[in-house]
Parts: sequence; C-alpha cells; structure tokens
Amino acid sequence: MDAVNDAANHTAESVPGPPSTATAPLEAGRRSPTGSRLYPRVTSFRSRRGALTPNQRQSWERMWPSIGREVGDEPLDAEAWFGRRAPLVIEIGCGTGTATAAMAQAEPHVDLIGIEVYQPGLAQLVQRIERDGIGNIRLLRGDAVDVLEHMIAPDSLTGVRVFFPDPWPKSRHHKRRLLQPATFALIADRLITGGVLHVATDHAGYAGHIAEVGAAQPRLIGLNEATGGAGGAPGADAPIGFERPVTKFEGKAHRAGSAITEFIWGKIK
Ligand SMILES: C[S@@+](CC[C@H](N)C(=O)[O-])C[C@H]1O[C@@H](n2cnc3c(N)ncnc32)[C@H](O)[C@@H]1O
Repeated sequence: MDAVNDAANHTAESVPGPPSTATAPLEAGRRSPTGSRLYPRVTSFRSRRGALTPNQRQSWERMWPSIGREVGDEPLDAEAWFGRRAPLVIEIGCGTGTATAAMAQAEPHVDLIGIEVYQPGLAQLVQRIERDGIGNIRLLRGDAVDVLEHMIAPDSLTGVRVFFPDPWPKSRHHKRRLLQPATFALIADRLITGGVLHVATDHAGYAGHIAEVGAAQPRLIGLNEATGGAGGAPGADAPIGFERPVTKFEGKAHRAGSAITEFIWGKIK
C-alpha cells in the first residue's frame, strides 16, 4: 500500500514549509490535527461554491447523517455502513448523481459509494435517494484520491467508475487531470482480481491520455475496443453493469458533437 501511496504523491505540489521550526520533512498531503492538509497538492477539481435550496437543505439534514460522510483518514468499514456484505463499487466525481442513482437502482445487489467535492451536486443526489428510497448508495464528500489512499483497503472494490472527469484542456493544467499513472496504480491496487474500471470521456485529448496511461498499468487488461480488448462491452459474466443513463453533462457533449469514448479494464493478479 505504501509503494502505491508514494506513487500517488506525484500529484503533490511542494510549497515551502514554515521557515525555521520544522524538524522533520513534511510528507505531501499530510494533515494537521484539525484535518486540513499541511500544504496542498494539485487537485483534479475546481473550488466551486453553490448554495443548497431550502428543500435540498432539509433533505440533506434528514439523510446525510446516515448516508453521507466527509472524507477522512480512517479506513472505511463499508459492510457496517451498508449493513450487509455486497460487491462494492465507487464512483469518482459523481456530480449530481444521475448515473449513480440509475445504476444503483439497476443493481440492487451492489453497494455504491458516490464521491464528490461539490455539495450542491451531492444534494441533488441526496434528494433523489430520499425520494426514490434507494438503499444501496452512500456518499463521501471530499477528494476521491484521499478516499483511495486512506479509506479503501487493497483488493476490496468490485468496480470503480469515472464518468466525464474534468479534462483540464490547457497544457499547463494537464497535471491536474485525475487519471494519471499514480491514480491508475491506486485504483488497480484497490480493485479485487476480476474487478472493473469503467471510464467515459467526451474529450478527445484526455481520451488519448487515458488510453495510454491505462495501457501502461500492468495490473489492468483491456476489456473493450477502446482499451485494446475484444470489441463491444464485456457481457453477462462481468461483475458490474455498464449501462449508463445520459447525464445532463453528457447531453451537452452530445449536442456539441463530441464523441464519447468508453474505457473498460479488468484487474488481473
Ligand atoms: C465534469 S463533472 C462530471 C460529473 C458526472 N460524473 C457526470 O457525468 O455528469 C466532473 C466532476 O468530478 C468532480 N471531481 C473532480 N475531481 C474530483 C476528486 N478528486 N474527488 C471528487 N470529485 C471530483 C467535480 O467536482 C465534478 O463534479
């Protein structure tokens, strides 16, 4: 786990520490006793503010204590949280949760954790979970890289979904892209053998980068055309489904004429 964590720190951006008193070097991403990082690493998300509507706020207050948590450093006991033992899937950057909710409803035997930094997005999903009585979704608010590093054990995830990660199109921002070699290594480490990584993007440049970085990860093999496997999506023997509803975000990409690339990898020993 440590080797993988060290690898993940390639996203860390060093800034000088306090001038005199530090006696030990600070690790990238280390947290202060209050939980904030001692110095920042480059993140794959923008800071966005947004208020919840009164209805969202009420739903949040009713639901969050049981279905949501802030991202932290403690390992997650998913079985205790869901109250059962079931295949576990995480969705990184679930946005407003259109895909999360539909996929959870289509697979009631799977437990799904949506991870998102943007509270108004999560609040829309919380409302949907409450309205539709969806029992197999839990939510983590914060950075998914922290979740992978600290909260998820190796060989524990049946699936990881990343739908339309921010493409950071300018070259000087490419270092902010979520899907880098270190993140692929972390994901591969946290998947069970036979577990699946499913990624979709509408950005041609990012698609090329994802294909290249994924192909270089030795513990993942391609399972669909875009990942160099057989044509089409894996069939009924796959441990999770691949049917996604078209999200609002994806709808915009379709209207702009962008092609959607879908990547599916499987974890090997
Ligand atoms: C372009 S949106 C796509 C949202 C959604 N998956 C969809 O298809 O509509 C990307 C989302 O990923 C979230 N995100 C980016 N990096 C993240 C990270 N490291 N941890 C959690 N969420 C992240 C952003 O806040 C944003 O909501």
